[in-house]
Amino acid sequence: MLSKMNIGSLSLRNNIFLAPMAGITDLPFRVLTRKFGSSLCFTEMVSANGLVRRTHKSYEYLKSSPDDSPLAVQIFGSDPDILREAAGIVTALGADLIDINAGCPVKKVLKTGAGAALMRDPAKFGAIVKNVRKATHLPLTVKIRSGWGYDALNAIEIAGIAEDCGADALSLHPRTVKQGFSGTADWDLIGLAKKNIGIPVIGSGDIRKPEDALKMIEETGCDGVMVGRGALGNPWIFKGLTAFMSNGAMTDSPSMIEREEVIRRHLEMNIELYGKKMGVKNFRKHLLWYTKGLKGGNKFREAAVSVNEISELLEMVPEYLQTLSGGVSDAERL
Ligand SMILES: Cc1cc2nc3c(=O)[nH]c(=O)nc-3n(C[C@H](O)[C@H](O)[C@H](O)COP(=O)(O)O)c2cc1C
Repeated sequence: MLSKMNIGSLSLRNNIFLAPMAGITDLPFRVLTRKFGSSLCFTEMVSANGLVRRTHKSYEYLKSSPDDSPLAVQIFGSDPDILREAAGIVTALGADLIDINAGCPVKKVLKTGAGAALMRDPAKFGAIVKNVRKATHLPLTVKIRSGWGYDALNAIEIAGIAEDCGADALSLHPRTVKQGFSGTADWDLIGLAKKNIGIPVIGSGDIRKPEDALKMIEETGCDGVMVGRGALGNPWIFKGLTAFMSNGAMTDSPSMIEREEVIRRHLEMNIELYGKKMGVKNFRKHLLWYTKGLKGGNKFREAAVSVNEISELLEMVPEYLQTLSGGVSDAERL
């Protein structure tokens, strides 16, 4: 069911969120998904070290605007004192919620003892949650995985520690670190977490179409869901999800005109944020996702990646979309 949801003191208009995704969930993408119904968006993971050391790049990730609210800022690191300091910085900068990353499986991050490495060090994990709790009055969430491997599934233990140390909600992506993003997410574990802790549980993993979100909530009893890869090139997934969950209605996939408007707006926002050169460069991956599964998409993508001028790109998109007749179903694109 689509329902309102509270995380600590934060009241959210619904229980469907945009998951944190590095390199993807920046200001333009968050604003787009909000228009389609996502009630809470997460920044990509931001280095606590970077914030404390005032690294320019880390602050770039925090760029926001009035139509980007409420905003959850995800921080990662391995030193409880640095995370406390970073939480203070993020709070002072006006975030609405702080999320601690304890689920990232990327080697570079694990090597520093951060991300999912924290699941192997429950004492340090607990110290981090406690420290961040002390540093901020903001709602606090923690995002975890199933565990290191199938022989080390400790999500429930870690979830209990998160609750005991003051987290207001838990997000669980039930794949192991070793699994990375392969295989399927083990939703049963989300149900188990829900049974074992008292704070709200947000499920993450494999939500690609409206029915999936409802199914995850019905099967696991989780309080909310977050959408990651299902939103790539597909920000309107939130419209479909919220409609289906509120009254079972299936929405039409967007018309080519609607697609064009969204793509154009996304590109414009990218250029506003990153400037012309970086804005176009950075937009290419989105363009590839937007045209995935569309007729003639391969040819279009080949041509689009070699374009440097925005004006040229802006002409190419409508020209290409006009060559298509009819929409494309979610089933077709995935
Ligand atoms: C490209 C990419 C980047 C991601 N970056 C982050 C991140 O910065 N922090 C985080 O907690 N999870 C991150 N995730 C994991 C997602 O938030 C989500 O838990 C996972 O993709 C499973 O959900 P999905 O099947 O809806 O994609 C990332 C996933 C992808 C695909």
